[in-house]
Amino acid sequence: MREKRGLGSAPLKGRRVLVRVDFNVPQDANGQIADDRRIVEALPTLNHLRAAGARSILMSHLGRPDGHRDPRFSLRPVVHRLSAVLGQPVPLADDIVGIHAIEQSTRLENGQFLMLENLRFHPGEEANDPAFAAQLSRLGELFVEDAFGSVHRAHASTVGVAKRLPSFAGLLVEREIRELSRLRDGIERPYAVIVGGAKVADKLPLLTSFCGRADRILLGGALAFPFLAARGVALGATRVEAGQEANVAELLNAARTAGTEVVLPTDLVVERPGRPDPEVVDLKRVPADALARDIGPATRAKFLGSLDGTRTCFWNGPLGLAEDERFAVGTREVLAGLGRIPGYHVAAGGDSARVAQELGVSGSFAFISTGGGAALEFVEGAELPGLAVLPDA
Ligand code: ADP
Ligand code: 3PG
Ligand code: MG
Repeated sequence: MREKRGLGSAPLKGRRVLVRVDFNVPQDANGQIADDRRIVEALPTLNHLRAAGARSILMSHLGRPDGHRDPRFSLRPVVHRLSAVLGQPVPLADDIVGIHAIEQSTRLENGQFLMLENLRFHPGEEANDPAFAAQLSRLGELFVEDAFGSVHRAHASTVGVAKRLPSFAGLLVEREIRELSRLRDGIERPYAVIVGGAKVADKLPLLTSFCGRADRILLGGALAFPFLAARGVALGATRVEAGQEANVAELLNAARTAGTEVVLPTDLVVERPGRPDPEVVDLKRVPADALARDIGPATRAKFLGSLDGTRTCFWNGPLGLAEDERFAVGTREVLAGLGRIPGYHVAAGGDSARVAQELGVSGSFAFISTGGGAALEFVEGAELPGLAVLPDA
């Protein structure tokens, strides 16, 4: 991929700079930030803007509030953490393109920051509504894209603004492109891709592009359920993402044609109502009241066997409900085993990064991307709208 025009050529001093960051951080049940990696990874760009005397207006989404103001998705906890890691208070505007945002942004001094409220409180964000993009653009004179985790979305704050203002790639975006490009060009084989997690409808249709490109695709987490269901496995009371039959068939066909192996779970760890202890079950004997929560021991051994000798590996998505210690074993053991296999290993995803950290397996990876879906699309060779819109260097 061609290099993007970076901050080095941006006239920053005294300018109002709109900066798209991805502060969509994992939160616990009380709204506390469970992992601040996405905030910390934005620091090189934010420090650069501060040192250059820019007046930075930060914008991000958090979760999926679907176009409505919802206090559970406020960026308040995020600005709190950001202020601490920057060592400088970052006020949160009460709105996005309203009177508060306009007033506060015009009052900024050189080297100061303002954060707008959650972009997805406004329906115009995800719709890439031209009127909303124009309102956002009026808050700044330049645009810096540093939200690598969101560049697969053609939204107002990623594409709409970039079309309206002189635009530059931030330092995180540059670093992500540089690292992940190693998984696009000249891959050392065998190449294995491990995908799990919960965003099934987003991720499953993307996997076909790995057929031929990767030697094997290992599937776990909720992502594996539609594949098991297609084989006639009854998954008890587990929620299986509906409407994925055609995507499953397409992937399996493409894999067969390309000679890519698809590796699926052969046993599961389930949770049952009224029974706190997890149970290991064979795929043929999943109880009617069971919820599938993790891959089982036979699957762990099968995954590790198929990773043996791998030279390159890309992982996105926990293999089970890894936030719960009872269901973290599959993810922990497979990733720890991966760490014992020499090669270039990359992890990607907001939740995946947090889980790798919590399970003590971050060291298994040469690089941990802040992108989830964005990294997945990048490494499979797709054109990402939020990058395509940025001028080349
Ligand atoms: P990422 O943010 O790394 O791209 P996702 O957002 O797709 O990953 O998915 C992460 C979530 O998937 C985790 O919170 C994890 O608990 C959940 N998950 C994985 N497997 C299961 C499962 N079997 N049942 C319920 N949730 C699961
Ligand atoms: C992510 O967490 O992958 C990014 O922040 C994008 O979030 P989205 O899938 O809700 O667009
Ligand atoms: Mg996630």
